Amino acid sequence: MAALQPVPAKQCRLHATRLRRMAASVTTSIPNELADMLQCDISLPFGTLGFVHRCFPLLEDAREFPVTRAYNFSAGPAALPEQVLIQAREEMLEWGNARASVMEISHRGRAFMALASESEQDLRQLMTIPSNYRVLFLQGGATQHFAQIPMNIARPDQVADYIVSGAWGEKAVTEANPYVQAKIAASSLDSVYTRIPPRADWDLDPNAAYVHYTPNETIHGVEFQEVPEVGDVALVADMSSDILSRPLDVSKFGLIYAGAQKNIGASGLVILIVRDDLLERCPGNIARIFNYADHAANHSLLNTPNTYGWYLASLVFKWLRSQGGVEAIGERNRAKAARLYAAIDSSDFYTNPVAVEARSWMNVPFFLPRAELDSMFLEEADANNLIGLKGHKLLGGMRASIYNATSLSAVEVLIDFMRDFARRHG
Ligand SMILES: Cc1ncc(COP(=O)(O)O)c(C=O)c1O
Repeated sequence: MAALQPVPAKQCRLHATRLRRMAASVTTSIPNELADMLQCDISLPFGTLGFVHRCFPLLEDAREFPVTRAYNFSAGPAALPEQVLIQAREEMLEWGNARASVMEISHRGRAFMALASESEQDLRQLMTIPSNYRVLFLQGGATQHFAQIPMNIARPDQVADYIVSGAWGEKAVTEANPYVQAKIAASSLDSVYTRIPPRADWDLDPNAAYVHYTPNETIHGVEFQEVPEVGDVALVADMSSDILSRPLDVSKFGLIYAGAQKNIGASGLVILIVRDDLLERCPGNIARIFNYADHAANHSLLNTPNTYGWYLASLVFKWLRSQGGVEAIGERNRAKAARLYAAIDSSDFYTNPVAVEARSWMNVPFFLPRAELDSMFLEEADANNLIGLKGHKLLGGMRASIYNATSLSAVEVLIDFMRDFARRHG
């Protein structure tokens, strides 16, 4: 292990306060060396291995992050790769040769245009996006595009088929309805969205403007493991919570869209990947700001884009490439999810109701045996530096979101904590 550096006094205080709070129930002592540095004498309340692994690299480079930076399982906005945050911090005052931050310069200047073009190339490379697709960097969140998609690629008198496997699919139908006859062609509501509607039951219209689905339902933790076959009708996917999480054949889709705040960066940016022929459908009688063809013709610079969000996305794309791309990250995601589901299934304390073949790699809802334990679980998790675990209000319980930036060791620390909690309250 590399030599440890002294921690600045202010951070010591932060660490010591936090760690003392964690010492509520003692099982193991932290190494003396670490305790010395923190100028405190404390112990940790659960299996310490993951925690100590986590502390040492951070303390080795104590200027980077205080130990108080938590293991973050938030569903979105969600944890970002620490390397990305460090680079963003380093470039906050001066980005490249700009003598200003990336937020403070023109989006039409040469430097930003270069970032825009390189980030698109990086994304194209990561996702193997064919040349007959445009990549747009837009705003409005996925919710705005629930409405904007039918505005652009359907007529109000047309039908569009929606496959609904969770709450976001439902919302997509509601928002689309003013602009197209949004028809629920299949739904798994009858199972309280614990499975994918069986393909044989889908009532698809061969003349529909498109078929829409949500490959990963962030709230219910339900994920398609395969891209569905829908014949010649354009397939549209809301990939807000699974984009870039595993390899994907983009050529099977007409349009893919995703809010950035889970696997791409900060909220306020939407990535939209659209096949050229669908852009020909965009009507001339909608305002230009809503028109995807106009955005494509202007390389997403029709108006001032979210420049900082775009910049963060560009860093995340570079980070993903450095990790070995979507193949490598997909394998890591598969392993993380397998580890967490195995821990849940092997316990008689926690449950996950989703059909095994439809379980999400990104969002893992789980329930404790008695709802009155929920707040205690969350408080203890927080005291152990584990945050963002509260389940969505629709479902209650817990949800661990384990997007690309979440490491396997973070998942192991969570599992350690869950086991310890179950042992004490089971
Ligand atoms: C799958 C999915 N679609 C849409 C949304 C809505 O995104 P936004 O709040 O950016 O509009 C979310 C947000 O969590 C989501 O997970």
